[in-house]
Amino acid sequence: MRIDKFLANLKYGTRSEIKEMISEKKVMKTGVIITDPATIINPEDDVISVDNHIVFYEKTIYIMMNKPKGVVCANKDARYQTVIDLVKEPYSRFDLDICGRLDIDTEGLLILTNDGNMLHQIISPKKSISKVYEVTLAKPLFEYSKLEKGIKIKDGKDQLYITKPATITKLTDTVCQIAITEGKFHQVKRMFEAIGNQVINLKRVAIGGLKIEPSLVSGEYKKLSFADIQAVFQ
Ligand code: URA
Repeated sequence: MRIDKFLANLKYGTRSEIKEMISEKKVMKTGVIITDPATIINPEDDVISVDNHIVFYEKTIYIMMNKPKGVVCANKDARYQTVIDLVKEPYSRFDLDICGRLDIDTEGLLILTNDGNMLHQIISPKKSISKVYEVTLAKPLFEYSKLEKGIKIKDGKDQLYITKPATITKLTDTVCQIAITEGKFHQVKRMFEAIGNQVINLKRVAIGGLKIEPSLVSGEYKKLSFADIQAVFQ
């Protein structure tokens, strides 16, 4: 790949700004100053530096975040901070996508990646990956077999929809875990509303076999390896 394209992809500036940086001798490949913006580099093997700082590069980035409440799952938002705003250097230089959005008032496990194929595999309805949520309810939970069998809710387009079978584990009278394999708009909240209850706190704790890291405080994130992310499919 051309050095100017590589650095532009990593948001070091526009192609012309990068050309300028190169003419100012600020860019090096394995310790040697690059003079031509058309220089071909191998991002995975060559050590590139800008202003004497090594450029971090990995082809695929996987991030586990503990999403806080009050932050939106979007790339940009005029009113609210976004989960992408929370990501700092060096990962902020990559074009990260959100694997399965959470509502603004939902917290917990979020996966961010620049790997389009992985994103697709995680969110594809065909894969039926389970999402586990810890739910705090306004009222005690008694009869919930309807939720486990499938219940009529409205989807994001206001169409009636019967949810797929779910699994509920009661933790206390008003706290439970629910595992669902789909992700309709406000699905968990709407499922509990459909049995006359109300969700007052919602936290995603697992996606497939990948559990939220307990040491991650709200708003923190950590990079996962390709091997780590495979837990989703277990
Ligand atoms: N279900 C909801 O209602 N909200 C979420 O954020 C996720 C699942």
